[in-house]
Amino acid sequence: MKIVLFGRKGQVGWEFERSLPALGDVISLGREELDLCHLDAVHSFLSQSKPDLIVNASGYTDVDRAESEPELVMKVNALAPGVMAEASRQLRAVLVHFSTDYVFDGRTNRPYTETDPTHPLNIYGKSKLLGEENIKQASDAFLILRTSWVYSLRGNSFVNKVLGWARKNSMLKIVDDQIGNPTWARMLAEITSLLLARNRENLYDRIQEQCGIFHLAGSEYTSRFEWAQQILASDPHHSEQTVQTIEPGRSEDFPTPATRPLFTALDCSLFENTFGLRLPPWSDTLKLAMAG
Ligand SMILES: NC(=O)c1ccc[n+]([C@@H]2O[C@H](COP(=O)([O-])OP(=O)(O)OC[C@H]3O[C@@H](n4cnc5c(N)ncnc54)[C@H](OP(=O)(O)O)[C@@H]3O)[C@@H](O)[C@H]2O)c1
Repeated sequence: MKIVLFGRKGQVGWEFERSLPALGDVISLGREELDLCHLDAVHSFLSQSKPDLIVNASGYTDVDRAESEPELVMKVNALAPGVMAEASRQLRAVLVHFSTDYVFDGRTNRPYTETDPTHPLNIYGKSKLLGEENIKQASDAFLILRTSWVYSLRGNSFVNKVLGWARKNSMLKIVDDQIGNPTWARMLAEITSLLLARNRENLYDRIQEQCGIFHLAGSEYTSRFEWAQQILASDPHHSEQTVQTIEPGRSEDFPTPATRPLFTALDCSLFENTFGLRLPPWSDTLKLAMAG
């Protein structure tokens, strides 16, 4: 099987670069190899390389900066996925794409299912929703996996930010009114790769039969405050922490350019019922991730 992976340097893409080779020959692309803003180049690259599977782990993910660069955000998160979808239909290739809990407005108190109405509050969420729609229109063998609160132990994730703040401050204030499902990038890539491996015989036909939008995030949900507490408790280098107290705060105490939805827990039972797979509880996964 020939696979094209977009977003190789991102949290999820980096993990896919390690799990996808078990399925076939992988061409991994980052911004240096192909800037997704060049839509014609995306199309011609896919037409020439003729993959059986396209995994799009790329995305414009800086939610606050997105507010000031809407055109660029739309290109990367909405138009480029549409081009990938178009190519996937022409080539009879499967497209796996990641979307977000931020397609919802967070004004609820129970986990969102795939049939709940969307209503994004910020440019990032709007662009990701348009990306979903463009894929649905153009491709007939796709998986759109809506995930949330993705972290890795590399780069600038919430986990690494909390570990950094805990080494510089004696007191931390973390919002307790944002609720979601922390998702370890490695687990997300591995479960997705496992799903693809299980369906590798006649992948196109199998995914065509089951294609759609699925929620896939760490099981169970929590607040950012509780997540931060667990990060500090699981820190393997606890003695380096200077922090003495951690206090709950409100989102309104931390104004940001982008409005964030408050309650965006995802109900992942459709994915589990369809594919017989799920991500473990977020707190177990966090311990595993932090144990190195
Ligand atoms: N992070 C989250 O909490 C979260 C939550 C829900 C859904 N998701 C979705 O999950 C997917 C993976 O997220 P992630 O956390 O792994 O993202 P990430 O770490 O920010 O990685 C995204 C990658 O996309 C690349 N990219 C951005 N603009 C590009 C362009 N114009 N041309 C080529 N490449 C470009 C980036 O390249 P550079 O490294 O060069 O910038 C980066 O490597 C995304 O679709 C995201 O929307 C993420």
